[in-house]
Amino acid sequence: MALTFKIGTASAAVQIEGDLPRTNWHAWAEKPGSIKDGTSPEPATGHWKRWREDNALMQELHLQIARISLDWTRIEPRRGQWDETAVARYREELIDLKERGIEPLVTLHHFSHPQWFEEMGGFAKEQNISLFIRFVAKILAEFGDLVSDWNTINEPNVFATQSFLYNETPPGGKSWRKALTTMRNFAIAHIRAYKLIHSTLDAPGRTINVSIAHHIRGFTPLNPKNPVHRAFAKIDDYLYNRLIENACYNGNFHPLLGRPPCDIQRGHYCDVVAINYYTRSTVRGLTDGVFPGAPVNDLGWEIYPQGIVECARELHERHRLPIWITENGTADNGSDTELERFRPKYLLDHFAAMAASGLPFERYYHWCFVDNWEWSEGMVPHFGIVHLDPTTLERTPKPSAYMLRDIIDQGKINDDIYQRYVK
Ligand code: BGC
Repeated sequence: MALTFKIGTASAAVQIEGDLPRTNWHAWAEKPGSIKDGTSPEPATGHWKRWREDNALMQELHLQIARISLDWTRIEPRRGQWDETAVARYREELIDLKERGIEPLVTLHHFSHPQWFEEMGGFAKEQNISLFIRFVAKILAEFGDLVSDWNTINEPNVFATQSFLYNETPPGGKSWRKALTTMRNFAIAHIRAYKLIHSTLDAPGRTINVSIAHHIRGFTPLNPKNPVHRAFAKIDDYLYNRLIENACYNGNFHPLLGRPPCDIQRGHYCDVVAINYYTRSTVRGLTDGVFPGAPVNDLGWEIYPQGIVECARELHERHRLPIWITENGTADNGSDTELERFRPKYLLDHFAAMAASGLPFERYYHWCFVDNWEWSEGMVPHFGIVHLDPTTLERTPKPSAYMLRDIIDQGKINDDIYQRYVK
């Protein structure tokens, strides 16, 4: 089966870099019990010091693209004060990636922002959006010549719900009102950033791609004949997937999000369909869970390869844009003797579903490169195609890393690859 999309990996600054000034996550990790294994974003994978080694390894594995985030806190550690040394260092990293033939996609907000911004109310306050936009303008001035592909906000729905409904991520709490306000403010921030990126970078002969990285989860009724299961699956889908999609893609604000400010009209504010897909939920009413008997990963998430196509098809039908999978991956912690047990099969099954779908998939960014700091889960789940020794920070590619290299070289998946990498 031929694969027509480019392949690479995705990461987020706080999850890999270390040596960061105080982000919202540094503050959150100090709260007892907030991170499962008691770790903090320091040192994560130590990428801030080891970035050249990581870039070189990506090149050795023939990866074609890389999604990275530029950390707001590192660049503006105090309100209004830019750290020019950090800017220069990020430029070096981006130039190095490009020289190695790896095209960067940059995320402007991936769950983290300065703690000073959090203390002002973060994205729960509409007047704070201008501070984010000022950061975006700085990024465009410094990196606009190097980067053409942008994710404005990573998973606004996940940020808003994990923080304000489940109290699992900063700033935390239990408030529907704040969850909805945060989604609204992220949508406003996205649309303003979208306009600014285009007005700054558009030029003849240059294609600029801007989108949110939208976390989509399929909601499947446990029993499709049960009207309660069906109804709740629809409600969950609307509140979790569609509300933010409509606002960010089209400036279409549901009354739950309030009327948009007057600079925001209906329109088109995403240039590609960018999807983060991991799993689906099986709905049986107010609660959801895993389909009985379905295969699961080491975090208990159902492994459901067809879901990547189901989610992509829905968005493609609505927006008719090329599809980029900006995240997909699985927690596979291996065993006493193996670095991983099922990731190669996971990857191949997702690729097979994508290839058979006939949909215009253009890019696939695997989550993630080196095993990293997984937010509230700490260092416990291993999502990387490269193993990290937590003590020495030494990197060791896993079989799936070599498998991706072989797939990129051949431009297809076939029985030979299945036989070589899937036990
Ligand atoms: C996030 C990543 C995270 C991954 C795996 C996604 O929701 O964007 O930052 O590490 O899921 O948990």
